Amino acid sequence: MTKVLILGAAGQIARLAEQQFLADSQVELTLYLRNSQRVADLKSDQVQIIDGDTTDAAKLTKAMQGQDVVYANLAGQNIKVQAETVLKAMHTAGLKRLIWISTLGIYDEVPGKFGEWNNATLGSYLTRYYSAAEVLENSDLDYTIIRPAWLTNKDEIDYETTSRHDAFKGTEVSRKSIAALVVKLAKNPSESVRDSLGVNKPNTDGDKPAWY
Ligand SMILES: NC(=O)c1ccc[n+]([C@@H]2O[C@H](COP(=O)([O-])OP(=O)(O)OC[C@H]3O[C@@H](n4cnc5c(N)ncnc54)[C@H](OP(=O)(O)O)[C@@H]3O)[C@@H](O)[C@H]2O)c1
Repeated sequence: MTKVLILGAAGQIARLAEQQFLADSQVELTLYLRNSQRVADLKSDQVQIIDGDTTDAAKLTKAMQGQDVVYANLAGQNIKVQAETVLKAMHTAGLKRLIWISTLGIYDEVPGKFGEWNNATLGSYLTRYYSAAEVLENSDLDYTIIRPAWLTNKDEIDYETTSRHDAFKGTEVSRKSIAALVVKLAKNPSESVRDSLGVNKPNTDGDKPAWY
């Protein structure tokens, strides 16, 4: 049995990951989110739901008791504070394995014209997401940071990955693909430990995402 705590459980990628996790009876989920009635339909013997904010260290620490893997699907201006709170709670609860969704471009790793466009379009969001990732990279956690390309809602699982010090590839990837990667990592917890994975759909290189 693998016990997974999902933070930001009503997020778009998280909802897709939950569907994929629940196809496996050997997974138990704890969904941690604000306004938890949004996922009430998922409550079952396999799913526990906790209403909470990830800046609430005490509640978060309690939610972490007995978990194997934490999957953080978070966003917001205070993303660094959220990373610090997750780290502190994991230390207190004695947990090591974290899967953290970030974004492309935090290391200025996106090459060429697309990289210039991405930096100009995302601006200070990149700095904030970098500072959150840095909190984890400077920690002793067994983290995997995931840096998706521009997200689509295409109904497909089609992705490739690059590593922490590689140039980023492609421009887009589906949320469903990111969810599939998260599920794979949660079920194979020794994969990509202390790495930061760029994730893109193959053959989508360009100066911008195709729909811009
Ligand atoms: N859009 C793109 O092209 C793109 C590309 C690469 C990476 N990303 C990033 O990928 C991540 C996941 O994407 P997504 O589509 O799943 O995002 P999403 O739907 O916006 O999910 C993010 C979740 O974080 C939750 N959250 C924020 N602050 C919280 C807090 N203090 N406590 C608890 N939950 C909190 C939000 O909850 P509430 O609903 O309660 O606010 C929301 O459900 C995001 O960080 C996004 O910025 C996006």
